[in-house]
Amino acid sequence: LHVVHIAAEMAPIAKVGGLGDVVSGLSKALQQKGHLVEIILPKYDCMDHGRIRDLKVLDETVESYFEGKLFRNKIWVGTVEGLPVYFIEPLHPAKYFSRGKFYGDGDDFRRYMYFSRAALELLLESKKRPDIIHCHDWQTAFIAPLYWDIFSNRGLNSARICFTCHNFEHQGAAPAHDLAPSGLDVEHLDRPDRLQDDSSHGRINVVKGAIVYSNIVTTVSPTYAQEVRSPQGGRGLHNALKTHSRKFFGVLNGIDTDTWNPSTDNFIEAQYCYDDLQGKLINKDYIRKHLGLSTSDLSQPLVGCITRLVPQKGVHLIRHALYKTLELGGQFILLGSSPVPHIQHEFESIAETFKSHADIRLILKYDDVFSHLIYAASDMFIIPSIFEPCGLTQMIAMRYGSIPIARKTGGLNDSVFDLDDNSVPLESRNGFTFFNADEQSLSGAIERAFNYYKQKPEVWQELTRRAMNMDFSWESSASQYEELYQKSVARARSFAQ
Ligand code: GLC
Repeated sequence: LHVVHIAAEMAPIAKVGGLGDVVSGLSKALQQKGHLVEIILPKYDCMDHGRIRDLKVLDETVESYFEGKLFRNKIWVGTVEGLPVYFIEPLHPAKYFSRGKFYGDGDDFRRYMYFSRAALELLLESKKRPDIIHCHDWQTAFIAPLYWDIFSNRGLNSARICFTCHNFEHQGAAPAHDLAPSGLDVEHLDRPDRLQDDSSHGRINVVKGAIVYSNIVTTVSPTYAQEVRSPQGGRGLHNALKTHSRKFFGVLNGIDTDTWNPSTDNFIEAQYCYDDLQGKLINKDYIRKHLGLSTSDLSQPLVGCITRLVPQKGVHLIRHALYKTLELGGQFILLGSSPVPHIQHEFESIAETFKSHADIRLILKYDDVFSHLIYAASDMFIIPSIFEPCGLTQMIAMRYGSIPIARKTGGLNDSVFDLDDNSVPLESRNGFTFFNADEQSLSGAIERAFNYYKQKPEVWQELTRRAMNMDFSWESSASQYEELYQKSVARARSFAQ
């Protein structure tokens, strides 16, 4: 198959969250299965250019329609971790993607609408005729209606459209006329069975559009795929998802097992593997010294937490976990920052309170390299999300032998299984879970983890080995996508089939 991913992010060069990891992880796995995989991204000025090989200009003549005019784009091509990537640099309107940051401007809707259209123009112009165009999240959700309403009539018509929603919280809703610059017929689309937003009148919703217009719609775990069928989980899209449920699937993400591998990881102090955990203790000792934490007792449990501090992640529960850990005699390291000023300030003041405490450290920034060391050094890992479409950190933590304490929601529910849960086979039990999003339930899970850790070290060792041996590689997820693609290609070509 020829698969083209069109997305706003790709790790490691342009990553804000898990979306970036998925685009590169899934692409690599599909490439390894023998498919031709290409990726189209905006040419951001703030990308990590050092990790793009042989970056060069391919074409400066690709024109793209926008707001009644044609605009020229400079198309770049390069290789990122073995994958061919095309970058679109709009010449006018200039500066759409050179603002020193990825998202967060008032005109994001316009910029990504422009990019979505330009990506299709690039495919058309370059005579690429992929079997699958796979778009991700609201930024590229425009692709599905653009493809079927405009491009399939212009000769770009070989493909089926797959849309993956990584988080239904972000839907790209806007006043209906904001869609007009794309060239789409707004009147025709501002209807309940097309792009009209179900919960607010006079608005369109591009994620809804992608649900209606794509051939395959996925989200990133089976449990989340169920949760979003409810009014609360689907944030107003539950009815659209129900209407289109025949083409809607939950596929659990994988992680990049080369990047996240404690036996080859160069960012940690000592490498280790599941049958020799000595190195893990060296990392624990190292990070504690490095951060000025007490090093007197190597068997004092170390709890890690690596997260964006946003309401989705259960900020109040993270704060509670920190105090609970202290109360139980453990140590806690938090790495993460918040785009929400009052949350950032709150954690800055907690960090200040504990800045020379022997058992707590808060590092309030995003630091990919340091995150490796926290995974490697910690014994337990806190993920109390209010909702979590998939979550990757629980899988990475397990791979490094850090036992997740997670709320049973979304992808956490599909990947973390409680040690005390007799309804699952012992070989699948790899962590501690709780259901209610309250402090008491979280405390219960932390207490159980501490009890095992302190009182049953042999059970803990076994649990650690089991967690490290779980298979969270992309292999099986990529096979599921492969099957969905193939089935869709086998069906007659038309929209929403
Ligand atoms: C989003 C979701 C997260 C998921 C990631 C990758 O960031 O919030 O749960 O793991 O996308 O799909």
